[in-house]
Amino acid sequence: MRYIGNKTKLLSFIGAALDRLGVPAAARSLDAFAGTAAVGAFLKSRGATVVGCDLMTFSYVFQRAYVVADSYPRLTGVLDDPGLRSARQRSDFTALVDHRVAARAAAAHRSAQRTTPRRTKAGTRHAAHLAPRARADATRPLDEMLVYLDHYLDPLTSFISGHFAMPHAAIQTADTADTQERDRDGARAAVRTGRAGHTRPGAATPSTASPRMYFTLDAARRIDAIRTQLNEWHTAAAISDDEYYILLATLLEAADAVANTAGVYAAYIKSWQSNALRGLRLRLPAIGASPRPPRSRRARCEAHQGDVSALAPDLGRFDLLYLDPPYNTRQYSGYYHVPELIAKGWFGDPPVLRGKTGLLSDAKKSEWSTRAGCVAALDRLLAATDADHVVLSYNSEGIIPESEIQRIFRAHGRGGTYKRLTRQYQRYRADRPSASRHYTSDSVREHLYCVRLKGGDQK
Ligand SMILES: C[S@@+](CC[C@H](N)C(=O)[O-])C[C@H]1O[C@@H](n2cnc3c(N)ncnc32)[C@H](O)[C@@H]1O
Repeated sequence: MRYIGNKTKLLSFIGAALDRLGVPAAARSLDAFAGTAAVGAFLKSRGATVVGCDLMTFSYVFQRAYVVADSYPRLTGVLDDPGLRSARQRSDFTALVDHRVAARAAAAHRSAQRTTPRRTKAGTRHAAHLAPRARADATRPLDEMLVYLDHYLDPLTSFISGHFAMPHAAIQTADTADTQERDRDGARAAVRTGRAGHTRPGAATPSTASPRMYFTLDAARRIDAIRTQLNEWHTAAAISDDEYYILLATLLEAADAVANTAGVYAAYIKSWQSNALRGLRLRLPAIGASPRPPRSRRARCEAHQGDVSALAPDLGRFDLLYLDPPYNTRQYSGYYHVPELIAKGWFGDPPVLRGKTGLLSDAKKSEWSTRAGCVAALDRLLAATDADHVVLSYNSEGIIPESEIQRIFRAHGRGGTYKRLTRQYQRYRADRPSASRHYTSDSVREHLYCVRLKGGDQK
């Protein structure tokens, strides 16, 4: 998902810093501001036991899918679902799944060949051939599910289409172009085109759809249908928690890819962007098994939702506390309210929306995004967490002054262990430059502030 502060491009910098600091690969680690869970998944791939935390529900979903889950789901509990069962009996269904699996295996094979050194022994190359095939077998049940949700599940008019969508005259054109592209690839045409779909009692109908142009009506009705289906299966215990969160994360990523925004949901764009017309497509998520399978329940990765300062004292001892708090005064709850809504769902009490962009009335505010509260929040968190190494990602434009970071780190840290590592980084532009948003340069300096905390008796 497009996300302010996402660290995907900085993972090698973070990894090199951890090596330099001597943080063990198997460190029990707290990813305190998990966001997209990119850092948590990276730490897990190095062998760490990761405990994640974030205020937002969608982050909890990503943590569950990309960090807590250890393998691709088998989804055996839904094989009896009447819609899925009848789709699985169709020859076009099998063709779509085969095509999807083969296309990905071919891409993985191409990429393995590119990365295999020219003068590799035949045996090594053979192993590279086998790996994608084995992976394809492991992912097939999920591939089948994604084909079902993508092509066979009827659209539904519900909360997202009622509040965050606009009809678009060219939707049929976009859908047709999408279908033709698949035909060229050799797959059978999608069966989606032309289906009428359903309206749930109480849901807004397409003609009363709000003027909020976040999604085309077509995309929104598919989001509504998939989200509702996942809720029904989960409530009926037909899918496990891991399966539910993996499917929900897949939907969140797919919805974000077709959102008619410049990256954040603080505003929608008033003309349709090309990505919004592409058609919602569920893509196979990357689920990371740990290189060291957990030996005990305690060694399993965990996900948490809430204020990390309140939760940290109860989370146990960590070898590594990784901090990536907000840098500025923009609240994530206001910038990502639509993914938050999709993650939370609307199946109990319908959410109350306010304002032109449909903000959630109970949005959580973070003191880390306030000038008045951020310094004290850092101080409190270091005091509240039982950890050895602390690594804080912060950039040169953050609201906590560097002198304060240094003061707090030295106060809580062991003498001589404070360090600052720096890397120049291409800026993420969530907003276009405008009269109200002026970017002073294209790059920012990304810092890692590091310290080793005093032990319990030294505090
Ligand atoms: C810079 S982003 C983290 C990005 C993340 N490392 C990634 O790679 O996607 C900051 C995150 O802090 C979360 N956050 C803000 N205040 C928080 C708090 N008090 N406790 C926990 N999380 C908080 C926000 O929801 C947001 O996801």
